[in-house]
Amino acid sequence: MLRLGVNIDHVATLRQARGTAYPNVVEAAKIAEAAGANSITIHLREDRRHIQDADVYALRMALCKPMNLEMAIHSDIIDIACDVKPEEICLVPERREERTTEGGLDCVANFSALDEAISRLRKSFVFKLSLFIAPDIEQIKAAEQLGASCIELHTGTFCERYEHDPRTAREELERLAEAAEQAHRLRLQVNAGHGLNLSNVAAMRRIPHLDTLNIGHSIIARAVFVGLEQAVREMLEKMSESSSKVLKCESSKVTECESSKVTEFLHTQQ
Ligand code: PXP
Repeated sequence: MLRLGVNIDHVATLRQARGTAYPNVVEAAKIAEAAGANSITIHLREDRRHIQDADVYALRMALCKPMNLEMAIHSDIIDIACDVKPEEICLVPERREERTTEGGLDCVANFSALDEAISRLRKSFVFKLSLFIAPDIEQIKAAEQLGASCIELHTGTFCERYEHDPRTAREELERLAEAAEQAHRLRLQVNAGHGLNLSNVAAMRRIPHLDTLNIGHSIIARAVFVGLEQAVREMLEKMSESSSKVLKCESSKVTECESSKVTEFLHTQQ
């Protein structure tokens, strides 16, 4: 069963927009957990544009499900991670001027710096290490050499193309599927995330060995209209629909599955 990590960064974005005490990220995390989220993801950025240090500590106390802390290898963030000791750490690249995490880590070019940061973290506590990377074999090999037990495939390019250029989206989806196979052969857990929403998430069924999808922006955006609990439930439903359809579609004709945009998209890949 495909698992869902709910990223609550944008609850904090809304709070930071006005410098108010609300909306409360702990309350958001508890609602997401109650609605069925398998983990809670937060990104403590160097510029602290959404999640704040105090949020990380408050969530650590309050969460029942695993905390997945996304972070870059900045020294002060590493110190906080060593203090908070989340169950999972996902290392990501960060650029101050980006709107969101725009690309995957370059584990090849930054091997030594990553190695050093990972050693520092590992000396302090036990956690599941994930690296956020593009679907590229050299990156996957480097992630394995860095001792990661997990990779998170960057789905941002796929999601962007899905909206604007379905033909090249198919190619990107094939790259993601191939990367997942390669990672699985190296015994790495395969997660994915970035840009996923109710319309494109069904395409994730084309990616084998997927364990967890980390999804934030679209869930929080949907919550504005239907509430967070329902937004999480809707995403979980779409995800389970997608995985049950894998079985159904694989044993029957894809046209029997559904007639939505996503099925058309998937259909053209048969
Ligand atoms: N995974 C990683 C590593 C991310 O950096 C982000 C964005 O913070 C996400 C998943 C979630 O992306 P989105 O908010 O587009 O769902």
